[in-house]
Amino acid sequence: MPIDYLVYVSQAAGRPGEADIAAILKASRAYNAAHGITGMLIYAPARTGSGGSFLQLLEGEAGEIERLRARIFADGRHHTKVVLARGTRPERAFDDWSMAFRAATPGRLAAFPAFADLGEAFFHDKLQGHSADGVLDFLRDFWEAED
Ligand SMILES: Cc1cc2nc3c(=O)[nH]c(=O)nc-3n(C[C@H](O)[C@H](O)[C@H](O)COP(=O)(O)O)c2cc1C
Repeated sequence: MPIDYLVYVSQAAGRPGEADIAAILKASRAYNAAHGITGMLIYAPARTGSGGSFLQLLEGEAGEIERLRARIFADGRHHTKVVLARGTRPERAFDDWSMAFRAATPGRLAAFPAFADLGEAFFHDKLQGHSADGVLDFLRDFWEAED
């Protein structure tokens, strides 16, 4: 069934730890399951200093996606949010995940040289140069990659 989607990138405020990510996922999975939203979240820490990047795919009904986007973009735990792609796809890429999550450790990113700088703020401009399919393929491939 055709489904709407949105992908954005943002910069984390500070350096979220495991408990911070767990809190985001717990709230996300409850809300998303109740609103027909699926997707994937990646957190990539910056190499030095605090900060890092969130890259997130939301899939669902267009109105639900826009409502959730507004909630997420109002969240002070990240800033400098940029929508990379939005549109309609033939089917969900994460149909059994209310919100899949992977931490983008340097080891995991090593298999994806084009995304090696995902955690760095400067990379956000370069991400905008990727096609929507390129970013979606990365999310899917990164999810399926072995540790
Ligand atoms: C990077 C990031 C991703 C998030 N993803 C979701 C999500 O997929 N679904 C969700 O309900 N909340 C998500 N949140 C949490 C929302 O921003 C917000 O805190 C939550 O909807 C509760 O809002 P409220 O405090 O106004 O009730 C995310 C937060 C961050 C920082």
